[in-house]
Amino acid sequence: MIELQNVSKIYDLGEIKVTGLDDISFSCEEGEMISIMGPSGSGKSTMMNILGCLDRPTSGTYLLDGDNVSKLSDDQLARVRNKKLGFVFQSYNLLPKIDALANVELPLIYSGQDHRHERASKALEAVGIAQRANHLPAEMSGGEKQRVAIARALINDPRVILADEPTGNLDTATSHSIMDLLTDLNKKGITVVIVTHEEDIATYTQRTIYVRDGKITEEKRR
Ligand SMILES: Nc1ncnc2c1ncn2[C@@H]1O[C@H](COP(=O)(O)OP(=O)(O)O)[C@@H](O)[C@H]1O
Ligand SMILES: [Mg+2]
Repeated sequence: MIELQNVSKIYDLGEIKVTGLDDISFSCEEGEMISIMGPSGSGKSTMMNILGCLDRPTSGTYLLDGDNVSKLSDDQLARVRNKKLGFVFQSYNLLPKIDALANVELPLIYSGQDHRHERASKALEAVGIAQRANHLPAEMSGGEKQRVAIARALINDPRVILADEPTGNLDTATSHSIMDLLTDLNKKGITVVIVTHEEDIATYTQRTIYVRDGKITEEKRR
């Protein structure tokens, strides 16, 4: 499903160049649920940005679903993102002035699809939060907001969910309920990749990849 071959990412800041990823190779099978761990600045977000087609490697190859996406144009990457990928972020990234339902509908508006209300309502139901459809983000708890964000990630039927510290702002009990939800989605066949700082969150995943200084240092299977 996901294959990185000798991927490096160098941030070119003119005078100085910063290494984000240094010759990383790894793959993730369809239907796997994996985690990426590492200290701050080790390259986790850089890796997620590349896996999520939000950025391109400086060198190396990224095969997503068999297609080489390393050299696609911005428009082509946007299409791949819309069709195949769902994103979940630590800070939820919901628009503050529109309600939960409208937030979930957004990707459907971008991709010009019909039946937006019904589909967004179903997605909210699927993550157990239909009763909050008409609430603004400020009127919801962190866990509720993350459920809305997961509903939004699911709306285009993605093959892969990429979650960068999805429980980073949540208390322990809520973190576990969000991980249970991601586990359920994985059981339905969605490939899940999450970044986390916490070992007990990583234990929900079948495999953990440890990164440091832009390199993979270790891999653990459960
Ligand atoms: N947009 C950017 N421009 C310049 N340097 C960056 C950028 N994003 C990340 N970096 C650098 O790349 C390295 C890896 O960062 P990052 O992937 O954000 O790590 P993590 O998510 O593990 O904290 C760090 O040295 C960071 O400063
Ligand atoms: Mg990060």
